[in-house]
Amino acid sequence: MHIKALLTFLSAANSISALPPLAPRAEDARDVNPFLGKNYFANSYYAGELNQTVNAFLTKNDSLNAARTRTVQNTGTFVWITSVAGLSNIKTTIDAARTEQQRTRKQQIVQLVLYDLPDRDCSGGQSGGEFSSANDGLNLYKKTFVDPYAAALKSAWDLTFAVILEPDSLGNVITNQNIPFCANATSTYEQGIAYAIAKLQAPNIALYIDAAHGGWLGWDGNLAPAATEFAKVVSLSQNLTVGGAQIRGFSTDVSNFNPYIADPRANYTEYSNAYDELHYAEVLAPHLTNNSLPAHFIIDQGRSGLQNTRATWGDWCNVEAGFGTPPTTDTNSTLVDSIVWAKPGGESDGACGPTIDGVGAPNAGLWWEAYAEELVKNADPPIAPTYATLRK
Ligand SMILES: *[C@@H]1O[C@H](CO)[C@@H](O)[C@H](O)[C@H]1NC(C)=O
Ligand SMILES: *[C@@H]1O[C@H](CO)[C@@H](O)[C@H](O)[C@H]1NC(C)=O
Ligand SMILES: *[C@@H]1O[C@H](CO)[C@@H](O)[C@H](O)[C@H]1NC(C)=O
Ligand SMILES: *[C@@H]1O[C@H](CO)[C@@H](O)[C@H](O)[C@H]1NC(C)=O
Ligand SMILES: *[C@@H]1O[C@H](CO)[C@@H](O)[C@H](O)[C@H]1NC(C)=O
Ligand SMILES: *[C@@H]1O[C@H](CO)[C@@H](O)[C@H](O)[C@H]1NC(C)=O
Ligand SMILES: *[C@@H]1O[C@H](CO)[C@@H](O)[C@H](O)[C@H]1NC(C)=O
Repeated sequence: MHIKALLTFLSAANSISALPPLAPRAEDARDVNPFLGKNYFANSYYAGELNQTVNAFLTKNDSLNAARTRTVQNTGTFVWITSVAGLSNIKTTIDAARTEQQRTRKQQIVQLVLYDLPDRDCSGGQSGGEFSSANDGLNLYKKTFVDPYAAALKSAWDLTFAVILEPDSLGNVITNQNIPFCANATSTYEQGIAYAIAKLQAPNIALYIDAAHGGWLGWDGNLAPAATEFAKVVSLSQNLTVGGAQIRGFSTDVSNFNPYIADPRANYTEYSNAYDELHYAEVLAPHLTNNSLPAHFIIDQGRSGLQNTRATWGDWCNVEAGFGTPPTTDTNSTLVDSIVWAKPGGESDGACGPTIDGVGAPNAGLWWEAYAEELVKNADPPIAPTYATLRK
């Protein structure tokens, strides 16, 4: 753990000059907590979506919740890159983050999700993607998606990136072999993620393999198979590289609703030792360590602000929720690099789940304005309002 050394370095640098050094950085994003001392870059595309929410609250004369939404617009969230066409959003984001870094003279960490595997969402079906293993999908994924993705990040050596790799995918490999489409996709998923890890090796890129969530892989019987599967994929990636391949750790609770610390714990967690995401990290960690994997986590709390609204742990679609603990490195656990907001709250999980005022959700990824307003109103902790003018 080099946190102390890094803090010493940062404070020494600050005492020399009012302007912090912008690049290149001394530390390697894979060896230290990459979030420490950085600003979580706020995704301007998401801020644009939230403008609808600001306006909706203003129309209702609800200036408090409009001002809270302005705070959400300035909160660092992940940009989801989910198709070849979406790769252009990486450049847009890099350009905007560089502008912010120059303007504020503060190092930005840019948070991205990489999500475009062939046969994607093999069990859920709401988030199928553009590539199919039956149509040369693995090669297309490598050449037309991962290669340009990696090139874009490597060219932006003046920024730090945290990248979540393929949410839910290895979770499906580990527990859904009974679904024929998932069983058949297993080798494609493993090779695809290993390729992405190998290609995204750079000192400014911290990779987090998605480890689903406590209600999925956190059951006692799933922990060892999960760690074995993660180790297999990392080993595959190491075999694809000359200098070795490293990940920083694992993401959990992406797009789900589990609390970091349950209070009280939900009744449906009664038989699980992973009854909240901190406990999930704690019970998975020794299995990771025993497989020579790094036990570092980032945990999505973007929609974990209102608890105990669902009947079963398996409910994953547009559950009634509020924004949760905002992104922070003050996690009270050496296992957890950062609380993050990975899912852009307000974008639908699919045309499923509860209705609001009798109206159901739109398809996956589409903006659901009524849901965004609920997230603001139900936030826990409550969001501090920003009454100043809208960002930029
Ligand atoms: C949000 O709206 C404000 C004006 O209210 C505008 O200046 C800003 O560009 C909008 N943001 C985005 C990302 O569209
Ligand atoms: C909002 O306030 C304005 C001015 O006070 C008033 O004219 C308008 O009717 C209010 N709108 C709603 C939806 O309450
Ligand atoms: C199963 O996966 C292989 C690639 O491993 C692919 O060639 C084949 O088309 C897939 N079958 C189905 C039914 O998707
Ligand atoms: C990686 O290569 C080593 C050495 O050849 C081999 O033992 C290991 O099984 C390979 N890993 C995978 C996952 O194939
Ligand atoms: C758990 O179940 C008990 C008994 O039905 C109930 O009183 C309690 O409110 C439930 N707790 C939660 C967190 O839902
Ligand atoms: C990890 O390995 C140690 C030493 O072999 C062993 O005592 C421990 O039970 C293992 N932990 C897990 C979770 O497998
Ligand atoms: C860490 O502990 C402090 C003090 O109890 C608490 O205020 C804070 O919310 C905790 N952080 C998280 C992420 O739970």
